[in-house]
Amino acid sequence: TLLTGCGGAADSAGGGAITLGFSQVGAESGWRTANTKSIQESAKSAGIELKFSDAQQKQENQITAIRSFIQQKVKVIAFSPVVESGWDTVLKEAKTAGIPVILTDRSVDSSDKTLYKTFLGSDFVAEGKKAGEWLVKESAAATGDVNVVELQGSTGSAPANDRKKGFADAIGSTSKIKVVASQTGEFTRAKGKEVMEAFLKSQSKIDVLYAHNDDMALGAIEAIEAAGKKPGTDIKIVSVDAVKDGMQALADGKINYIVECNPLLGPQLMDLVKKVSAGEEVPARIETQETEFDQAKAKAALPQRQY
Ligand code: AHR
Repeated sequence: TLLTGCGGAADSAGGGAITLGFSQVGAESGWRTANTKSIQESAKSAGIELKFSDAQQKQENQITAIRSFIQQKVKVIAFSPVVESGWDTVLKEAKTAGIPVILTDRSVDSSDKTLYKTFLGSDFVAEGKKAGEWLVKESAAATGDVNVVELQGSTGSAPANDRKKGFADAIGSTSKIKVVASQTGEFTRAKGKEVMEAFLKSQSKIDVLYAHNDDMALGAIEAIEAAGKKPGTDIKIVSVDAVKDGMQALADGKINYIVECNPLLGPQLMDLVKKVSAGEEVPARIETQETEFDQAKAKAALPQRQY
């Protein structure tokens, strides 16, 4: 069915602005705040009318938001899926309504790739792998076991699944590196602190913390300090994101290494929105470019860090 000319504020036919319905995960981390800001600012400067919805970490809220975007006949739908699975039904509804969908930041595990136009975001397996490779090098001289505790991201989310896998693959053949405890810290500071407190009580020897994001590492640092230990020295820390607070802790010697995950997806997303709404072909996968930081590199980069 052609929706052109059906009227209504959301209809972009007739020279009006393109309407983009965007369903965000929530506001769990510094990364997410930077990502939301990037999307809102880029929509504004691209002249795209943004309908923004915050799912507060709940898949059912995202599904409701997507259904409401379909009803409002937005031109394009974009979203960052809270979890990987369970999207086929609602994606089929969007497809039937003729509304193209763009996945940003996180992907879905649907086998039908025609349900979305493209996926713009990081390679989370590669990020976990980089963290693991750093630890393998860092532990080269260690003679005994290197005991690692892991703070996972939100259960069922692509970054939690993939960062766990990438890290496990990288440390796989180094038998002295042992993940002695692994639990979700839900990508938040508060939960990162709480779970680290529990790890410190239950584990007799912790050498390294691998946190799936900076916020959980920052919460864990509070727990480590409260337990009378020195983060970055007594317990080495490697995390993912490279948000400003994480970079500051890295520069201060409290974190040892950060793998970057770039949240500034707004400009590329608006570009894709314009292309798909014009019926142009876009690549099926657009990977974000990112780097890694040690303490010296963090010190040098901090003054220019935007987020
Ligand atoms: O999906 C990206 C992840 O989600 C970020 O690494 C984490 O901080 C955020 O909450």
